[in-house]
Amino acid sequence: MLGFGTVGRGTYEVLRRNQLEIARRAGRGIEVTAIAVRDVDKARASVSPDVRVFPNCEDVVRNPDVDIVLELIGGYEPARALALDAIARGKHVVTANKAMLARHGNELFDAARGKGVMLAFEAAVAGGIPIIKALREGLTANRIEWIAGIINGTSNFILSEMRARGLTFDTALKEAQRLGYAEADPTFDIEGIDAAQKLAILSSIAFGVPINIEAAYTEGITRLAKEDIKYAEQLGYRIKLLAITKRTAAGIELRVHPTLVPLQRLIANVEGAMNAILIKGDAVGTTLYYGPGAGAEPTASAVIADLVDVTRLHTADPENHVPHLAFQASGAGPLPWLSVDDTVTSYYFRMRVADQPGVLADITRNLAEGNISIDALFQREPSEGENQTDIIMLTHDAIERDVNAAIARIEALPTVLAPVIRLRQEELL
Ligand code: NAP
Ligand code: HSE
Repeated sequence: MLGFGTVGRGTYEVLRRNQLEIARRAGRGIEVTAIAVRDVDKARASVSPDVRVFPNCEDVVRNPDVDIVLELIGGYEPARALALDAIARGKHVVTANKAMLARHGNELFDAARGKGVMLAFEAAVAGGIPIIKALREGLTANRIEWIAGIINGTSNFILSEMRARGLTFDTALKEAQRLGYAEADPTFDIEGIDAAQKLAILSSIAFGVPINIEAAYTEGITRLAKEDIKYAEQLGYRIKLLAITKRTAAGIELRVHPTLVPLQRLIANVEGAMNAILIKGDAVGTTLYYGPGAGAEPTASAVIADLVDVTRLHTADPENHVPHLAFQASGAGPLPWLSVDDTVTSYYFRMRVADQPGVLADITRNLAEGNISIDALFQREPSEGENQTDIIMLTHDAIERDVNAAIARIEALPTVLAPVIRLRQEELL
């Protein structure tokens, strides 16, 4: 085991606590024999004396007695180099590291395929939810149409705590860090990067394309204003940081952004660090997967599921392993990646305007020029003596490129007093 932090400790503890049950399922015992960690003394104090604790990961990776390497240190390097070294030595690798897989997954999976070893990564997406297993194996009959998920526990926790308990953004983030949900650099959580990394992996498995994090449009929750959360609720929507990948006739969409979701959808009511993922397959229809997306033992649950899979298939012919990314390498057919400008979805706008005649007419004329049709609209009642107000509107489906052009024209109007707030909306049917 490389790394003994939140996930490493959780994995060690669950393996220890449930060892008999796990051995009965795996058909043999699974033991942690060696741990590598920077703070050796701290780790030694928490494990049984027969587990060797090393200050260098190489000592574990290069140990001939080690069959399976758990990469639980996180980040890009040295995680990538260590995983490649383990693979080159014919060891199976289990990782929870979506950052590494999103950036270097294609190289790592190629190396694993070349050596006939498993590179398992259930814990890298949606913590304890067995979503990789569901998508890669359970839905294998389907042509996947789209996936939409809450796949970052930290940002969902922050949004929930701000809305339900009135916590400030910073207090909610500190709490998420204290509970072990956040990444070492929490910017990854709150700017949507962690969700985009997980989405890039899901998209690859869903559509049989290489992992391409570069194609992801990424917008986090840091610029979300309280008023928009309130207005969205008034319109019957909740704002969630959604990760969406869709197959369209033109190519594949890959995007993460705050999204208005109808309140009556189950996914709109997923709170705290819980994750939920909707998958639409042509045969099964829409399925929903829900559970804890972060934390020590939920993530350990996924890591150990991989360990048991690897243990069961350890002696199997590599031809009989489930393909790492669901599709046999020769069967993967690339589709073009779409720019976010090509996205077709409906929108929420908030416009700060002068409260005077003709303002609304100017705005709607500009929307009509962009072929953008209004679905609902209301105006905040100005306070006593206030000479400006907010117009809030929902649109029907429109092309993002047309929306951007219309917004630029609207922002140039002298009666529009601030940049237009624009959020995307998904019906998820
Ligand atoms: P963490 O609590 O920060 O633990 C990281 C561990 O790795 C620490 O024990 C650290 O040792 C060790 N480490 C880091 N760099 C090292 C190096 N160069 N050599 C040796 N040891 C090193 O992180 P975590 O939350 O467990 O996350 C681990 C991985 O799981 C990450 O890829 C993360 O994205 C992923 N993940 C986390 C969660 C979650 O809920 N936390 C959920 C799903 C996936 P020291 O403490 O001695 O520095
Ligand atoms: N930081 C991640 C999250 C951990 O909050 O979802 C789980 O991948």
